[in-house]
Amino acid sequence: MADKSILIIGASRGIGLGLAKAFAARGWHVHATERDRSDDLHAAAENNVMTVHTADVTDPKSYAGLGLDEGSLDVILINAGITGADHQDAAKATAEEVAHVMMTNAFGPARAGKELLPLIKDGGTLGFTTSLMGSIADSSGGYDLYRTSKAAQNMLAKGTAEQDARGRDIQVLSLHPGWVQTDMGGPDATLTIEESVTGLADVIASAGGGGYRFVDYKNADLPF
Ligand SMILES: NC(=O)c1ccc[n+]([C@@H]2O[C@H](COP(=O)([O-])OP(=O)(O)OC[C@H]3O[C@@H](n4cnc5c(N)ncnc54)[C@H](OP(=O)(O)O)[C@@H]3O)[C@@H](O)[C@H]2O)c1
Repeated sequence: MADKSILIIGASRGIGLGLAKAFAARGWHVHATERDRSDDLHAAAENNVMTVHTADVTDPKSYAGLGLDEGSLDVILINAGITGADHQDAAKATAEEVAHVMMTNAFGPARAGKELLPLIKDGGTLGFTTSLMGSIADSSGGYDLYRTSKAAQNMLAKGTAEQDARGRDIQVLSLHPGWVQTDMGGPDATLTIEESVTGLADVIASAGGGGYRFVDYKNADLPF
């Protein structure tokens, strides 16, 4: 039986699938979630110590019954994310578009993090896949919907670190994967999935023990 375990919410493709494979290759027991059947994830699970679950980060009922014991996980990573409406423009955004991107990228992940926190061992790690685009210090504007949802996610993650996780020495990470060649990042992105997830897995595996970091896949701290 694997010594270490991780739950990854949003592992059907892209960075989440890459991380599921990377942790399995390191000998971890991986609990990986999909919304709809992902043949790639099921193929990875056939050859590894991996359990596939179904969950939608915007639907608390969907992850309430994962059947995992309290204190059984070293790490939970909430990776699910969307870009939001194509126009990305604050001046055009409808209430529905704002609600969708905010619920998927910020409030859904924050709620999942709080509700699933008891599954993490004392001294473990709760991670959120964020983006440098969520850095207020770094921002020069553009990508309004995506950027503000990730800034909100970072705020909620830091709050979770200080309000919910601190008493149990659980570290909260907001993880920037770099610009990665996925459906979201597109083919011109500078990093392969493997390059990004190798770095992210190193950062995640060496984390834990309380506190909050906004950090990239190279373990560099980022301006909030
Ligand atoms: N690629 C980049 O350059 C880049 C840069 C910075 C940050 N990020 C962040 O990295 C994370 C992964 O992105 P990616 O590039 O791998 O994108 P991707 O290839 O588009 O994959 C997105 C993943 O999120 C899942 N997802 C979306 N909405 C969900 C929901 N409501 N509930 C559960 N899962 C949901 C998707 O599942 P389905 O298959 O069911 O849709 C898929 O597994 C995101 O949080 C993204 O914002 C990416």
